[in-house]
Amino acid sequence: MRSSTITGLGRYIPRRIMTNAELEQLVDTSDEWIVSRTGIRERRIAEPDQASSDLAYEASIEALADAGVSAEEIDLIIVGTATPDMLFPATACILQDRLGAKQAGAFDVSAACTSWAYAAAVAHGYVSSGQADTVLVVGTETLSKIINWKDRNTSVLFGDSAGAVVMKPCEPGKGFLSFHLGSDGSGGPFIALPAGGSRLPASYETVEREQHYLTMNGREVYKFAVRCIPRAIEEAVKRAGIDIEDVDLFIPHQANIRIIDAAAERLRQPKEKFFVNVERYGNTSAASVPVALYEAVRSGQVKEGDVVVMVAFGGGLTWASSAIRWTMPTQNSTSAR
Ligand code: UT7
Repeated sequence: MRSSTITGLGRYIPRRIMTNAELEQLVDTSDEWIVSRTGIRERRIAEPDQASSDLAYEASIEALADAGVSAEEIDLIIVGTATPDMLFPATACILQDRLGAKQAGAFDVSAACTSWAYAAAVAHGYVSSGQADTVLVVGTETLSKIINWKDRNTSVLFGDSAGAVVMKPCEPGKGFLSFHLGSDGSGGPFIALPAGGSRLPASYETVEREQHYLTMNGREVYKFAVRCIPRAIEEAVKRAGIDIEDVDLFIPHQANIRIIDAAAERLRQPKEKFFVNVERYGNTSAASVPVALYEAVRSGQVKEGDVVVMVAFGGGLTWASSAIRWTMPTQNSTSAR
């Protein structure tokens, strides 16, 4: 069986920057609290007329150009998102139409912040089994649209962005070495968007009760994340048949610097081996890992032959990890900020 690898990377970062100082005007919080508890200094916010598919489109155009692949060559588009344009049609189908990807199947994967990591695992299955040769895998989020800007527990944490990769076949031993997916639905209520589905259809009452906004039990999610990340990393490493010391760079979901530091400590790995950009973007959910990967590659922190372990966690509860031997440094060198 063949493996799969990433041959192109793209990202889209909205222009508008929202600083912690700006949040101080909206809710009872402070720059000091946000930085010391989360590491976040600013986040990006999409324009009112930008939906998740718009961010996905920009990231995809860059990833396709980077891979040297035309839209007509795409066999499959998988979009990971917790903020789809609407319940249906899938954001992937909206993207397929805009890209003119006439030969592509298209569907969304819904695993909250873990959506892109799950989507990459599905893409690997298609490519490695020979069912697809070219898959576009996008993580895109406009969390700002489902945030209650009066709720300090959540409004300070999240941001908007999109990351895209093109996945193609490669020989075994190169590209993706392993994947591991996990879930614990009993923790579902810890991060949820209660209304707008079939359980609680949208109504005046749901809006009055503010059930159309993201709700979160931060402390429970924190405990879960600190437990889950080291285990998920160890599982990806074990399945790849390598040692943790062989890993050159960890790319964790960018939710909170304290969560990343705690994971590094538990794994007895130096903090420098963990890529961090949470200070600039906050938690961008499904976009977080592909955007971080993009920036790690573009800034030269990932080189040909390096082993990178990516790990994500989020609502569901869900988690996913993967190990990749970096095979195909991208040709373009648009520098990351
Ligand atoms: O992708 C997954 C998505 N979610 C996450 O990753 C979230 C994971 N959880 C976390 O990152 C952290 O739990 C938070 C950053 C959400 C909260 O940090 P914490 O250290 O767990 O704080 P806490 O919830 O224990 O609250 C400590 C205090 C409380 O005040 P009292 O009860 O001690 O007086 C809160 O009311 O901080 C207060 N607080 C705030 N103060 C200023 C909570 N949010 C804020 C805020 N500004 N924004």
